[in-house]
Amino acid sequence: MTSPIDDLLSVRDYLRFASSQFAASPLFFGHGTDNVWDEAVQLVMRSLHLPLENNTVFLDARLTRQERELILDRVRRRVDERVPLAYLLGEAWFMGMPFHVDERVLVPRSPIGELIENGFQPWLADKSVDRILDLCTGSGCIGIGAASVFPEAEVYLSDISAEALEVAESNIDLHDVRGRVHAVQSDVFESIEGRYDVIVSNPPYVDAEDLSSMPDEYRHEPELGLAAGKDGLDIAHRIIAGAADHLNPGGLLIVEVGNSWVALDDAYPDLPLTWLEFDNGGDGVFLIAEPDLRQWQASN
Ligand SMILES: C[S@@+](CC[C@H](N)C(=O)[O-])C[C@H]1O[C@@H](n2cnc3c(N)ncnc32)[C@H](O)[C@@H]1O
Repeated sequence: MTSPIDDLLSVRDYLRFASSQFAASPLFFGHGTDNVWDEAVQLVMRSLHLPLENNTVFLDARLTRQERELILDRVRRRVDERVPLAYLLGEAWFMGMPFHVDERVLVPRSPIGELIENGFQPWLADKSVDRILDLCTGSGCIGIGAASVFPEAEVYLSDISAEALEVAESNIDLHDVRGRVHAVQSDVFESIEGRYDVIVSNPPYVDAEDLSSMPDEYRHEPELGLAAGKDGLDIAHRIIAGAADHLNPGGLLIVEVGNSWVALDDAYPDLPLTWLEFDNGGDGVFLIAEPDLRQWQASN
């Protein structure tokens, strides 16, 4: 196919072209947008470093050849290679905040963002939050998001992957929180010291069956961030086993396990978990308070 680069000149042309290409392809939307149009707008406008809203003034502006080449290449990679848009742009938005992302980390999308924006209420009540641990942090989005809501708290971002922590470090700098947000390499709790008021985690939780049938977009994400054994609970079991030793009295443990929630509920019939509901969608996130976790452990 000859390149359409000489036929497409304006921002409007590229929005139309990207929309048509995306609509004609079996794309999967699971990494921030959920439809062709939003995907096209984000790809075109963010490639041009233009705002996603209030941008109509630019629609008939012509692009330079370099800008046209860049956008055409990104549209091609989105369609042919099924690369998630966030990796093409090198950025993702979480809790209204930008984060650097690349193929070393998962694309941020956890529903836990909504809970953080609500200050962990009503679950936290009037308990103060001085220390937060974001276990399995990836890009650092959850922990850095929490740091923005709790400006006095010390936040620890931990991950087993040194590569993921490099991305988290770059996001610590992006959000200028180096004084109180720290990155720690740890296999679950193995190198974690001290106790926390909130431990929040979006660990790997995809079971073997789901992993083998995921859309192509997910093959660009690190398998270490997705796969968690046959039932998807390899890491969740370790978090439940170790959390009480790292929570302050009255602290909260919040963990996302996605579709593996059924297996987790079966595995812990006596554990008093609260399964959270979200206004903006998403499920498979449980919460348990430290006294309940400790009491359950004592009786098991
Ligand atoms: C689902 S990703 C979540 C990333 C991030 N919290 C988010 O919401 O976008 C899970 C992360 O857990 C990390 N991970 C996998 N196994 C781990 C382990 N044993 N200990 C700590 N982190 C682990 C992966 O490297 C990956 O960054």
